[in-house]
Amino acid sequence: MAEGDSSRWDFRSVADPADAGAVTGAGRESGADLNPDIPHIARIYDYWLGGKNNFAADRAVAEQAMTAMPDMRASVLSNRAFLRRAVTHLAGEADIRQFLDIGTGLPSADNTHEVAQRVASDARVVYVDNDPIVLTHARALLTGGPAGATAYLHGDVRDPAAVLAGAAETLDFRRPIALMLVAILHCVADEDDPYAIVAALSAALPAGSALVLSHPANDVNPTIGAGAAAARMNQMMPMKVTMRSKTQVSRFFDGWELLEPGVVPATQWGTNDPTPTALWAGVARKSARQ
Ligand SMILES: C[S@@+](CC[C@H](N)C(=O)[O-])C[C@H]1O[C@@H](n2cnc3c(N)ncnc32)[C@H](O)[C@@H]1O
Repeated sequence: MAEGDSSRWDFRSVADPADAGAVTGAGRESGADLNPDIPHIARIYDYWLGGKNNFAADRAVAEQAMTAMPDMRASVLSNRAFLRRAVTHLAGEADIRQFLDIGTGLPSADNTHEVAQRVASDARVVYVDNDPIVLTHARALLTGGPAGATAYLHGDVRDPAAVLAGAAETLDFRRPIALMLVAILHCVADEDDPYAIVAALSAALPAGSALVLSHPANDVNPTIGAGAAAARMNQMMPMKVTMRSKTQVSRFFDGWELLEPGVVPATQWGTNDPTPTALWAGVARKSARQ
């Protein structure tokens, strides 16, 4: 999008929605099918956040997971609060003006462009998600500020080359970009090699860029039932989630310089909140040596 045209949303598809339904990993579904009978993570997450964009099948999975993990709602809210703090820091002190938010989710309170443009009105944000319901609601609900730019790509993180090509129409890859992988990588199975995906995305970013990442895990708060909740979800959803340990989550930051306080419970990044969370979270910076 040209600089002068930046006051609008731009919607593009980096994958044909019809193709996006193809199973690219064993037993997995991308979620391109809007069938309300098939529970999907974006709508389940929306339910936990108190949204209205979910169906009975999504609510059934969400409730089952909450039975296993009663603090689920507090945990997902802690993830949104982490996103808010990280983006505020990056758009402010770190002076980053470009954000590539992959695995956007349904519009909620304080979407990335709202947080970033509150701090820096000229912030440019590209959202990417592979769920067509997210695409539908992004069209209806999200609006960028007049000075910045906000684009939405219907795309799959498992095709990083296509995501990068689509994002390059709005973002300048010669200038720092914050790559946001907030509560999405548990949707990428080991057989789809999430480490290679993150490495491919990271390699495209210039020095001074940032990585914002959170990931649900069993070992943040081992007694709150996160593992049992994930197991119930995997019994009920065609799309599976993969919990990863702190060691496994930390590996996503290989080659990056972690900002203080490192990979920590989401409630401990930039604050000290006693609320239970099931997510590891961290923010890192790309140095000139990378
Ligand atoms: C748990 S939600 C997180 C939403 C948001 N990032 C947040 O933290 O509040 C995960 C999102 O990732 C999206 N997602 C899952 N797998 C994906 C993939 N392979 N490519 C792109 N988006 C994906 C889902 O559709 C969903 O909207």
